[in-house]
Amino acid sequence: MTHRVDAPEQAIDFNNENANTSANPTFDAVLGARLSRRGLLRGSVGSVGTAMLAGFGVSACGGGSDDAAVPAGPKLLGFGAVPKSLADVVAVPAGYTASVLFALGDPIAAGVPAYKNDGTDGDFDKRAGDHHDGMEWFGLGADGKRSDNATERGLLAINHEATTDEKLSSHFLHANGGTTTLPRPAAEIDKETAAHGIAVIEVAKAAGKWAYTPNSALNFRLTSLSPIEISGPARGNAQLVTKYSPTGTTTRGTLNNCGTGKTPWGSFLTGEENWFGYFTRGAADDAARGNDKSVTALKRYGRNQGAASRHGWESGGTADQYQRWNNSKTGTSADGSDDYRNEMNGMGYIVEIDAYDKTRMAKKRTGLGRFAHESAAFGKVEAGKPLSVYMGDDSRGEYIYKFVSTALWNAADANAADRLAVGDKYLDSGKLYVAKFNADGTGSWIELSLANTAISGYAAYKFADAADIAINTRIAADAVGATKMDRPEWNAVNPANGEVYFTLTNNSNRSVNPTGSQYLPDAANPRAYTDMKGTTKQDGNPNGHMVRLKEGTSVSAFTWDVYLFGAEAGADKTLVNISSLTADQDFSSPDGLAFSKATGICWIQTDDGAYTDVTNCMMLAAVPGQVGDGGKKTLSYTKADGSKMDIVTPVGKAATESTLKRFLVGPSGSEITGVAETPDGKAIFVNIQHPGETTSLANLGDPAKYTSQWPSNAGYGAGKRPRSATIVITKNDGGTIGT
Ligand code: FEO
Ligand code: CA
Ligand code: CA
Repeated sequence: MTHRVDAPEQAIDFNNENANTSANPTFDAVLGARLSRRGLLRGSVGSVGTAMLAGFGVSACGGGSDDAAVPAGPKLLGFGAVPKSLADVVAVPAGYTASVLFALGDPIAAGVPAYKNDGTDGDFDKRAGDHHDGMEWFGLGADGKRSDNATERGLLAINHEATTDEKLSSHFLHANGGTTTLPRPAAEIDKETAAHGIAVIEVAKAAGKWAYTPNSALNFRLTSLSPIEISGPARGNAQLVTKYSPTGTTTRGTLNNCGTGKTPWGSFLTGEENWFGYFTRGAADDAARGNDKSVTALKRYGRNQGAASRHGWESGGTADQYQRWNNSKTGTSADGSDDYRNEMNGMGYIVEIDAYDKTRMAKKRTGLGRFAHESAAFGKVEAGKPLSVYMGDDSRGEYIYKFVSTALWNAADANAADRLAVGDKYLDSGKLYVAKFNADGTGSWIELSLANTAISGYAAYKFADAADIAINTRIAADAVGATKMDRPEWNAVNPANGEVYFTLTNNSNRSVNPTGSQYLPDAANPRAYTDMKGTTKQDGNPNGHMVRLKEGTSVSAFTWDVYLFGAEAGADKTLVNISSLTADQDFSSPDGLAFSKATGICWIQTDDGAYTDVTNCMMLAAVPGQVGDGGKKTLSYTKADGSKMDIVTPVGKAATESTLKRFLVGPSGSEITGVAETPDGKAIFVNIQHPGETTSLANLGDPAKYTSQWPSNAGYGAGKRPRSATIVITKNDGGTIGT
């Protein structure tokens, strides 16, 4: 489901994408050499934007004398901008081809029949799941083992975030649309739980064409019922004790997987986003719990007593796999070992998965905090220094986080055989920080630990230990007064200079005249305005923006600016279209984000509900500069009482046609999310999530009334029901994408 600007906060969100991260320890050198060979570092007129050159020139390129010997290379963003569109197609620039690769229901194991796409298919644990989201590439050599340099064979690890719903049912998965009242049949629930999670599939290029390998032995799925180990500071904590795991060391399933990451040691990270919506709580559960502090935590995480679950999965019967979705105290034990009162504490983490080895149990890395996770991007990876992982919490007014490992990076770990053991080393012990943005363009990372008296003495919640902070991270961040952001989605690290980019997708709670739960604009979230969608007013920051951070010399200090403001090209340039976006660049609700290691292009993907009267969601290519390359802007507001309020904010250098251009527009009702590339940059993989999501259950029997028929209208697969899918994009001349 799309992130609609007006949707109630804790309601289901859902889309998104990923950010890749990189982190090959020798990456800067490799990137510099690669760009240099291809001439991408040259500054010839009309070539790469100067901002980009500055970025690469500092860290990826050596002295200017080498450049002088490099022949002129392809021009970045040399393609023609794709116009905004409401057509039910994937549109890419002239000279490019987009092909469907892997759609909802496609088989991933031998013997599984082709997807009929009529609601009668089963075996979803052996098929593509639904709502493809974040995605990472893992190269394969001829021996079927990890090969970071492989360009024509690899694995794609893909998040399957959610399903397209009406009321309780994932209606496209069921012949008659499924049951929309409680109780729901177990057979329907079993399909839906299996359609969530992640997929790892083999893909390869043969005879010039990319395809996935349906019967590869390397393919696998994790679903919302797969056993997963709890790792890090919360492992074994009393708040994770359940009937399934009385020791609090395992749980089942990964859920609502949104953004992704890739570790420097070659494993896959997936973020659990809107997991809380899948659990129900009894109407009298607060009293059943004795109104203890677990009630405070449950409320902070979006589960008031009496909350209904998104799908009613708890209603499938008395079997444990259904009862686990009831997050109420139903047992008599003191510790929760006879019910699932603590089950929700097993969701909300960054999960590490070895994409190359389906026999290894995935691990929830609790040290990275528990919230509505998006991507997890590694900062610069340097031998002898700690690793940093950046993360956002996607809900209105939530925060931006950084995890810093205790262990110092040993480059030999990049190629260790036991990847999850390396994960244990770097991701289970460290410090978790939350971001506070100051009005002057500086910022601080505040450590979340009991050593901070704002946390140890917090009146609203008595923290017991480090595990308590790992599980109830949002409350600790509240305690220290972190900056409430306009819905942090993905983040990605610019490989040229280590700066961290965050999408802030939108926020209807931002107001110059705040009432109720609303809050004032601030320097890092400076806009509050009204945009019209037809006759509907959209208030707050309906189009979203992007901030970027540059780390300082101390682990706790950074500087920042606003990189871009989403806006309609025709909007007022003093308060709305502050980045002066043109018709070739305008966008709304940035979400997915990733830097290409091959070209340095920053891919920006949208999950929009605000500008969708004019255009479907899209992907743009950007060539960013660096923090501080612009200047200060003053946003002057007049409040309802007539008083003035000026917000001064640092804003990046204005985009030009050489630094920002629309590359793709998706089919009707879809969001664009997840992008991965081959190391040579000649193929990119992109996910199209929930085309036709507004198709109503009542129209299920009449394909003419579907709000999208993609990808069947692109010639892919049986049936007309719309399907989320991975596409592959190549350049017709075999060149590098985005040049
Ligand atoms: Fe699943 Fe916040 O996007
Ligand atoms: Ca998203
Ligand atoms: Ca509008």
